[in-house]
Amino acid sequence: MATTQLEHDTLSRVADATARVAAEVGKAWLGPAETIEALLTCLLARGHVLLEGVPGVAKTTLVKSFAVAAGCSFRRIQFTPDLLPSDITGTTVLDRASSQFVLRHGPVFAQVVLGDEINRAPAKTQSALLEAMQEGQVTIDGQTMPLSPPFMVLATQNPIEHEGTYPLPEAQLDRFLVKLQMRYPEPAVEKQMLVTYSRPLEEVKAVLSPPDVLALQRLADAVHVDDELFDYVLALVRFSRSHRRVALGASPRAALALVHAARARALLGGRDYVLPDDVKRLAGPVLGHRILLSPEAELEGATGPAIVDEALDKVPHRRKPG
Ligand SMILES: Nc1ncnc2c1ncn2[C@@H]1O[C@H](COP(=O)(O)OP(=O)(O)OP(=O)(O)O)[C@@H](O)[C@H]1O
Ligand SMILES: [Mg+2]
Repeated sequence: MATTQLEHDTLSRVADATARVAAEVGKAWLGPAETIEALLTCLLARGHVLLEGVPGVAKTTLVKSFAVAAGCSFRRIQFTPDLLPSDITGTTVLDRASSQFVLRHGPVFAQVVLGDEINRAPAKTQSALLEAMQEGQVTIDGQTMPLSPPFMVLATQNPIEHEGTYPLPEAQLDRFLVKLQMRYPEPAVEKQMLVTYSRPLEEVKAVLSPPDVLALQRLADAVHVDDELFDYVLALVRFSRSHRRVALGASPRAALALVHAARARALLGGRDYVLPDDVKRLAGPVLGHRILLSPEAELEGATGPAIVDEALDKVPHRRKPG
């Protein structure tokens, strides 16, 4: 039986706050509720998101309105082949008036950062952003500076392979808590979009503040996970490691990420305990992109998410007696 750690009041306030975020985002963006829920899950789990989708499916619209609704500062970085690490982190410049070097903060100092088409820039530039994501700090001209939380990166990549792109290496993919697909909208939704957006939009309002976000993150840390669910997560990642079509399975970091994400999802659902369903729903988005297939399996069209589906199918969730 789960131990109750969070007050009923607190839990209903969380559910209320997150519903308001979803409603605000919905003023600017039409699409599946699960997408907004996934972004909120990542925000609460202190994670970063890899968004995959073709141009024009409203990735920027979604991320910007999400940042505004969460009360967070927002910056967008367009990755290009000539983008430099200092275009992301910032640089020191000589201030003529005072003859002093002053720091010019780069766009990474925002709370929600959209890195558009991350694989258009070479590895050195990509890693400036990826380091910030992992360390929560950046180094500018030899000086290390912390980024103040909350800090969430959403990086987009085009699913269609282009010439002259730099795919993210496996170790970098592991830095993203989830990978989400943004697909074309359902016909009815797309039509609704045409009708709705042919007139001026209602403005998206902030319904949270950065301190609210930090408080929600701490609440998510307090969500209870039963021992049997830790075992379930481990069984899922072990399945991926021993699969004959997999060259490199889900890492311990991936297992931890799944637990963090499951806690955040539970909290969003107004619960202070994780359900097996939280783990099951998140296993694909959290683990799928971290599984490296064998070259033969890849040629045969196998995918990471399909391996996760197989794991969910075959790995039983065992409830401990008593
Ligand atoms: N599902 C949607 N909900 C709301 N607006 C949409 C939707 N799909 C497309 N649009 C509209 O289409 C336009 C393009 O959206 P946006 O710039 O956010 O797309 P994008 O995915 O960021 O594109 P790119 O890949 O070129 O950066 C905007 O005017 C946006 O309002
Ligand atoms: Mg865009």
